Amino acid sequence: MPALKVDLYSDTASKPTAGMRKAMAEAEVGDEQMNEDPSVNRLCARVAELLGKPAAVFMPSGTMCNQVAFRVWCQPGDEILMDRQAHPISSEAGGPAALSGALCTGLDGERGMFDAAQVKAAIRIRRRHNPRTAVLSVENTANRGGGSVWPLAKVAEVTAVAREAGLKTHMDGARLLNATVAAGVAPKDYARHFDSIWVDLSKGLGCPVGAVLAGDAEFIDHSWRYKQQLGGAMRQAGVIAAAGLYALDHHIDRLAEDHANAKHFASAIAQLPGIKLDVSQIETNMIYFDVAGTGMTAFEVRDKLIAKGVRIGASTERLMRACTHLDVGRADVELAARTLREVVAR
Ligand SMILES: Cc1ncc(COP(=O)(O)O)c(C=O)c1O
Repeated sequence: MPALKVDLYSDTASKPTAGMRKAMAEAEVGDEQMNEDPSVNRLCARVAELLGKPAAVFMPSGTMCNQVAFRVWCQPGDEILMDRQAHPISSEAGGPAALSGALCTGLDGERGMFDAAQVKAAIRIRRRHNPRTAVLSVENTANRGGGSVWPLAKVAEVTAVAREAGLKTHMDGARLLNATVAAGVAPKDYARHFDSIWVDLSKGLGCPVGAVLAGDAEFIDHSWRYKQQLGGAMRQAGVIAAAGLYALDHHIDRLAEDHANAKHFASAIAQLPGIKLDVSQIETNMIYFDVAGTGMTAFEVRDKLIAKGVRIGASTERLMRACTHLDVGRADVELAARTLREVVAR
């Protein structure tokens, strides 16, 4: 395989910067399982404050945040509502069923976002025969929705319906900070509509690993139990928490650059022969585009790009996803667009 010149596969591809590595090397550490790691404790306090929640817990991954939250909120046989393309349905190896005994029902959203009427219609009547609809989960940004940003008013509407019916509300905030930067909304303003909410450190924020789950003290106490049970409790985790603290200081505002680069890339490829893409829908750092018109599958286009040193993911037979991040600059997206032009040229 030739050397990779541009990696647009995912925002998880970024490597820790020199400043982040220095912060990691100098981190104060202790035993995280015993709540004795000062860097982890600082990180949890920072994220709790950012989200306006009383407490938070450090997790190895965003997947574990989703799974632990569902484990806290659900009894076996309960139902979780979310968009049909949401990450726990598509990409968490059946975790809700395996770990919580919960059934996920996918709502037919538009770009990963559903509305209050859909939630209302999906909540089951409480009776012995029915699964208990227990949780509403909202993904912001919605990954397979194209990195779309939930409008705050829509979040308020769907969560109000859920809460009125006694459901818990959960936000998958893998890219919450992309959403808040794009929308100009404070993280707290989204967070107040949710009983549990998390942010990923290893995506746009550029950390090598980690996510932080927040909620009230009782929820976090229960979460600790399941984190322990799943093997997520750590030891001198301050080394990685320090990366998170560094990222919160240095890598939030710059997400706007990723969004601008995504838009630039989208505009550059929108007119290429056989490529279908609506530039007006690019809100954050993801660009999904349809390559069916090129006469090639997404997998073929992916392989031809790789041969030229550019990596873009193939999500389905016809759909590709490019994702901008900390290690991708303006010149990189321009090179990627030129390379795609060569690959699809008739
Ligand atoms: C929307 C969404 N939720 C959850 C996750 C899981 O995060 P992690 O990779 O940290 O487990 C991802 C990862 O891509 C994601 O895109």
